[in-house]
Amino acid sequence: MTLLIKTIKELKEKVKEYKKEGLTIGLVPTMGALHRGHFSLIEKAVSQNNRTIVSVFVNPTQFGPNEDYDKYPRTLKEDLQGAEKIGADIVFSPSPDEMYAGCTLNNNYLTYVAPPYEYINKLCGKSRPNHFDGVATVVTKLFNLSEADNAYFGMKDAQQLLIIRKMVKDLNMNINIVPCPIVREDSGLAMSSRNNYLSQNGRKTALALSKTIFTVENLVKNGNIKDVRYLTDVALKLLEDTEVEYIEFVDYDNLENVSTIKNNTLFAIAARVEGVRLIDNILLEE
Ligand code: PAF
Repeated sequence: MTLLIKTIKELKEKVKEYKKEGLTIGLVPTMGALHRGHFSLIEKAVSQNNRTIVSVFVNPTQFGPNEDYDKYPRTLKEDLQGAEKIGADIVFSPSPDEMYAGCTLNNNYLTYVAPPYEYINKLCGKSRPNHFDGVATVVTKLFNLSEADNAYFGMKDAQQLLIIRKMVKDLNMNINIVPCPIVREDSGLAMSSRNNYLSQNGRKTALALSKTIFTVENLVKNGNIKDVRYLTDVALKLLEDTEVEYIEFVDYDNLENVSTIKNNTLFAIAARVEGVRLIDNILLEE
C-alpha cells in the first residue's frame, strides 16, 4: 500500500526508518496530474531502489505571476491510485505552507538556490525569469527531505534536467540523477499535464510540435542536412498554426546556440496552442 504523507515531520520519520534498515531510496519529483510519462519514471525508480517516494507538489515558487499556478490540474486521489499500482511506497504531497513554512520567493524571506545565469537566460528561462530558481530550490528541498540515492527526471524538460545535474555537481549533492526518455501519446504528442487544457482541435494543432521534431530528426539523420538556418525555416513552416515562442538548436552541454548540427545538439521548441504553452525536444547527433 502507498502511504500518503502530507507533513515534513512524518516524511523524515519514514526516511529515517528506511535509512536505519539500509534501504536505497528513489525519488520521483512531480507536480501531480500524473500521466504515462510520470509512470515511466516511477516504474524505473521502483525497479532500481528498495523504496520509492513520489512527490506531488504544485510548487508556487516556479510559477510567474501571470502563469497557470491556480488552474494547474490537481488530481491527488488519482495520482495516489496510479502511484500505488506501480508500487510506490510514499506519495509526499505537502501544502505550500508546509513546504515553505509560510514563505515564498515573493516575500523575500526564503533562501533559494540560484542556478548559473548562463543556463537560465536561455530557452524557457527567457520567458520564465524566476522559474529555474524555484525549481532548483524545491528540488533541493526534496533531495534533503527524501535523502534519496537516485532521483528521476524526464528528458522532456531538457533544460531543467541539465540545470539539476549542474546543481548536483556544483553543490556536491550526494544523489544520482537518472534521466528518462520522453513518453509520447500514440499520435506523437509528448505527454504533459498541460495537454489536459487542450480541446480536441487543440490537440490536433499541437501535433505540429512532434511532427517538427521528427521531421528535423529525419532531415539530419537521413538527409544529412546540418545547416541550422535551413532546419529552422523548415520548423517555422511546420509550426505556422501555433504561436512559436522559440525554436533553438543548442549545445546540450552549455545551451549555447550552434549554427551546424554536431553531436549532442538539443533541438528544442516552445509554442502555444490555444494559449497553452507546450514544449518538445530531441537530441540530435552529427
Ligand atoms: O518537472 C516538474 O514537474 C517540476 O519542475 C518539478 C521537478 C517537480 C519541481 O517542481
